[in-house]
Amino acid sequence: MKTILIMNGPNLSMLGKRDPKHYGSGTLQDLEQACICKGIELGVEVQCFQSESESAIVSKLHRSMGKIGGIVLNAGAYTHYSIAIRDAIELIHIPVMEVHLSDIHNRESFRNQSVIEAVCARQYCGMGVKGYLLAMEDLVKEYFKEDADTVAAPADELSVERAAIDEIDRQMIRLFEQRMKHADRIARIKAKSGTAILATNREQEILEKAGGSVDEEYAEYARQWMQETMRLSRERQSEVNTKE
Ligand code: DQA
Repeated sequence: MKTILIMNGPNLSMLGKRDPKHYGSGTLQDLEQACICKGIELGVEVQCFQSESESAIVSKLHRSMGKIGGIVLNAGAYTHYSIAIRDAIELIHIPVMEVHLSDIHNRESFRNQSVIEAVCARQYCGMGVKGYLLAMEDLVKEYFKEDADTVAAPADELSVERAAIDEIDRQMIRLFEQRMKHADRIARIKAKSGTAILATNREQEILEKAGGSVDEEYAEYARQWMQETMRLSRERQSEVNTKE
């Protein structure tokens, strides 16, 4: 299965906090989620990458050689002056679709010029998140054609659902891991300040929220699931606390 890399440059991590007139109100996570769903529909794998740094973007472009089938790139402000990113795009021989949420041609004059345009396959701007999705469709249509019969054949209903569940499972595991990392940090803070590990009221509140946020038939399972998560987190905190 071919992979599309969704690359976002500086300040795009702040979507949701930037001017909604140009960038909409969604966050980067919403944008990446929409691309992941589009990938499922198109039968391609999607990887997401964001960095504030020019060198990280250049390195990621280099590392994509031979691994990535196509790239959807919003280079942010680097679009207007980074010859380093331009040169990297040129040398990797991977089709790159240039995307901008806003219409760079109808904004301040310093945004009108793109130094990467000439080495990108196409430019999409002023369409918000839709531009990313369109760019993905065009990548598959125009560059993944030779695989179309075997790989990117329209996904049937069952495989779309399976792929969606796989993605959700991956995200759940990632979220669980993140939660445990925060539990670790909280434990360290609490150990220093001597605060008790158990915050019974808070835990009770979370259990109620978990039960209340799903249909009645799943409420008890949601509560049990959250309870187990919090138990593991508390256990982890106790471990850290006794070590510190
Ligand atoms: C942008 C436009 C750029 O001029 C700006 O610096 C950005 C975002 C866009 O998505 O519209 O950061 O690339």
